[in-house]
Amino acid sequence: MMDKPQTLNPSQAAERLSLPDGPWKEHWQDSEPFREENPFYLQPGYLEEACSFLRMDAEVSGVILAAARQFGQNPAWQRFLCHGRHVLRDAERYGYREFMALPAEAGDDGFCYVIAFLSALPEIREMHARRGVPEEITVATLADLERWIRIYRQWYGRWGFGERNWLFHPFRGNLFQLGRLQFLLDRFEDDMHLFRSPESGELRLLAPDLARFRPDGQFDGTNGIRAENPETAYFRETTEAFLGTLISPQSTVTGRQVSLGKQDWRKVLRKGDPALSFHIPASGPMDPGECRESFRRALDFFSRHFPDRPFRAFFSHSWLYDPQLADYLPEQSNIIRFQRMFYLYPLPQTDDRQIFERVFSRTFSFSEMPTPKTTLQKAVLEHVRRGGHWRTSGALLLPEDASTEPDRRNQIPK
Ligand SMILES: CC(C)(COP(=O)(O)OP(=O)(O)OC[C@H]1O[C@@H](n2cnc3c(N)ncnc32)[C@H](O)[C@@H]1OP(=O)(O)O)[C@@H](O)C(=O)NCCC(=O)NCCS
Repeated sequence: MMDKPQTLNPSQAAERLSLPDGPWKEHWQDSEPFREENPFYLQPGYLEEACSFLRMDAEVSGVILAAARQFGQNPAWQRFLCHGRHVLRDAERYGYREFMALPAEAGDDGFCYVIAFLSALPEIREMHARRGVPEEITVATLADLERWIRIYRQWYGRWGFGERNWLFHPFRGNLFQLGRLQFLLDRFEDDMHLFRSPESGELRLLAPDLARFRPDGQFDGTNGIRAENPETAYFRETTEAFLGTLISPQSTVTGRQVSLGKQDWRKVLRKGDPALSFHIPASGPMDPGECRESFRRALDFFSRHFPDRPFRAFFSHSWLYDPQLADYLPEQSNIIRFQRMFYLYPLPQTDDRQIFERVFSRTFSFSEMPTPKTTLQKAVLEHVRRGGHWRTSGALLLPEDASTEPDRRNQIPK
């Protein structure tokens, strides 16, 4: 018999669970009415069924069930779980930020978030069914939970889960795995302006007004490096033209000022426009043909199941889009072939944290450098040895280009 989660104020909960202080305490009382005895989501029967629906490996479901047993014996954890679940379920009201504000390291190796996500399974299944999403897509999408539990083990050598911010999206029903890639109903929040010439199909990307950039074409401050005399980009719209500083498809601010006459150029994307961000889960190599197929599927999937959520572009931020990778990887490598599908662009305030995390591990450090094994690992270290810096970059693709052959759009403008 489980104890009823106690009435605890957030400071008491924080003290008993050694949780860090933070804005998460603000809405704590909102979840008070939802305290319940023997919550369904801690019952072994419920969890076994949920894990089985997600086709989880017996080893991983065993670890989850063991964590649930521990929560069941600890009223303070149950109360915290009840709160986490409430914030996740009522995301319309609290938004993504509130969930992110919950303590990331909650001393339980993240399993309270695993249980909170699994508790949302009935709602997600129902929401997908209402939209007509086939069950195999629901299962493939939510399988990310097990993937991240395994990645945690790979990184830290013990079972755990550290990706609650990311898993928020599939468990709120906004992200879908369609073949090799995942797609999130998102907004383009980069402050850039994208234009297309309807006649030639060419694209031009213009930098944000007043952005400072270095002589190497990166935004000032990238990798923590500031130029002595950075240049300043500008953007203007007149009755006849769009004027601004050009960003090359190889991810550099060129410093070239261009004028795009309105009779020849259409604005096709700006900050705040609805867009699909795409993501590459760690599930083996990525065949570029499979990736292209995923974009085609996304076009069909979202128009069929989310006709009320039209979008203007696909975009992504990742270490994968650093064009410097082409100096090291063979032409035929999947990463280089994938890069060629997109208009690559630099991001402000970016750094090399992600490449080390995804190519080595989150625990990577220069003082205890692992022996590089793959071509990419050797390349990543070699570049640093030569004094270079890696950086997370952006990639853009317009829906109408998703089924065309790569390279066509990615020419350096004359
Ligand atoms: C993205 C990903 C699927 C690309 O792998 P891939 O299809 O094998 O890529 P390539 O064909 O270009 O690989 C070229 C070389 O780099 C190596 N390589 C690729 N990704 C690697 C990684 N993450 N870590 C170490 N080595 C890697 C390959 O093994 C190959 O080297 P080899 O010839 O010595 O074996 C892979 O990096 C991955 O799973 N990453 C984790 C998920 C991720 O980072 N997603 C991006 C979102 S932020």
